[in-house]
Amino acid sequence: MALWGGRFEGGVDVSTQEFGASLPVDKHLYKQDIAGSRAHAAMLAKQGIITEADYETIASGLAAIEAEIDAGAFVFDINDEDIHMAIESELTRRIGEAGKRLHTGRSRNDQVATDTRLAAKALSKQLMEANLKLRQVLVRVAIDNGTVVLPGMTHLQHAQPVLLSHHLLAYYWMFTRDFKRLDAAFEAADASPLGAAALAGTTYPLDRVATAYAMGFTRVIPNSLDAVSDRDFLLDLHFACSTMAMHLSRLAEEIVLWSSSEFGYITLSDSFSTGSSIMPQKKNPDFAELIRGKTGRVYGNLMQLLVTCKGLPLAYNKDLQEDKEGALDSARTLSQCLEVMAGMVDTMHINAERMRAACRVGHLAATDVADYLAKKGMPFREAHAVVGHLVLECDHRGCQLEDLPFEVFQEASPLFAPDITSALDIDAIVAARTTEGGTSPSAVKEQLKFVRTSLVGDEARVGGLGYVVSMGAGA
Ligand code: ARG
Repeated sequence: MALWGGRFEGGVDVSTQEFGASLPVDKHLYKQDIAGSRAHAAMLAKQGIITEADYETIASGLAAIEAEIDAGAFVFDINDEDIHMAIESELTRRIGEAGKRLHTGRSRNDQVATDTRLAAKALSKQLMEANLKLRQVLVRVAIDNGTVVLPGMTHLQHAQPVLLSHHLLAYYWMFTRDFKRLDAAFEAADASPLGAAALAGTTYPLDRVATAYAMGFTRVIPNSLDAVSDRDFLLDLHFACSTMAMHLSRLAEEIVLWSSSEFGYITLSDSFSTGSSIMPQKKNPDFAELIRGKTGRVYGNLMQLLVTCKGLPLAYNKDLQEDKEGALDSARTLSQCLEVMAGMVDTMHINAERMRAACRVGHLAATDVADYLAKKGMPFREAHAVVGHLVLECDHRGCQLEDLPFEVFQEASPLFAPDITSALDIDAIVAARTTEGGTSPSAVKEQLKFVRTSLVGDEARVGGLGYVVSMGAGA
């Protein structure tokens, strides 16, 4: 009989048993469930609601069950509806009477909200750590390739030359903002619902702050109805994952492009490439493509929870049982994507010569030649037109701006002098973009100071998150 079976005369239809169960998903939250039960039992004893002896028995029973699940030795009973019932009924089987007192002043509604919040904290923290590792790799590759230039693009057309380090640091900042979003998701989850009971609080003199602190929460949720109904802390995690997946996907797309024969900017290491079963020559960027592809399921999980929560009346509704699978899936997906991306970027070979050679295509100097005229007094719009005609002339001759004879420049405008060569030189063009946040080596050097400060700050933030119940590996 189910733990709630007292008021029923008949059993549930077999078709509903598997349908109604969440154990296959929420068993992954066994450590969170046990931490919650341990904190609840300790508080019940402290408040004189159960005896100290009962608490001791419950605590050692829970510890034994936890160790067994950790070791992969625990056999889950598929007849148990969820992790809460699986653990409570096994505890009662083992310790008898005291096990039956554990659920005093508690409902599965506040229990599941507690477990899910603890899990959201653990997953956010894991992702913050993985995010930091990728950012460290990006910084390392940026610094090690400090003089490498490549064509910066707009509309996927050659635009102006940029430093590779600048390009990679753009991703660094995207992932830095993702870290902040994960941190916000951690913060949102960091409040204890335990003590809300089914929906209205309980008649027992519970100490909600004591259980909250024992589980590592920094605060309690001030409204019992909200405590059992709210899942927007998970939506925060989903959104952080979705944005990070989008950023990973953009980087992955560039890796796919850059490793193609057409670009040839990078060569992926064998350890992050795959071959073809039919074409012996192939070396494919499968893992970058897969990271790009995983974005869809992560967005899907966000949509699923948004729709699941829409229109739910207060307070708990069984619909909410659909909340955990997507969150676990997105977090697992993202932590793999971050790890694989970090490895792939860390081990890829940068073909600096190919990148530099590509800068010889597409008249990357055009803006600087126009700026040259403007700085000599010609209105910029006019200068733009003069250089536009020079580019057209290049197209007719089949050459680049920097290949045009000096006389052609002079015919176009008497303002051109022999020093025009400096406006045509790729390294000089890059070095001239000294605006804060620009691509010159000096500006990037300044940027790296902000990068280091943000890395150190975020590393300290992860270190200072406090006690977090980690996800168990046993279930
Ligand atoms: N398995 C349920 C869930 O994940 C636990 C809470 C069930 N509560 C209830 N009153 N049916 O949401």
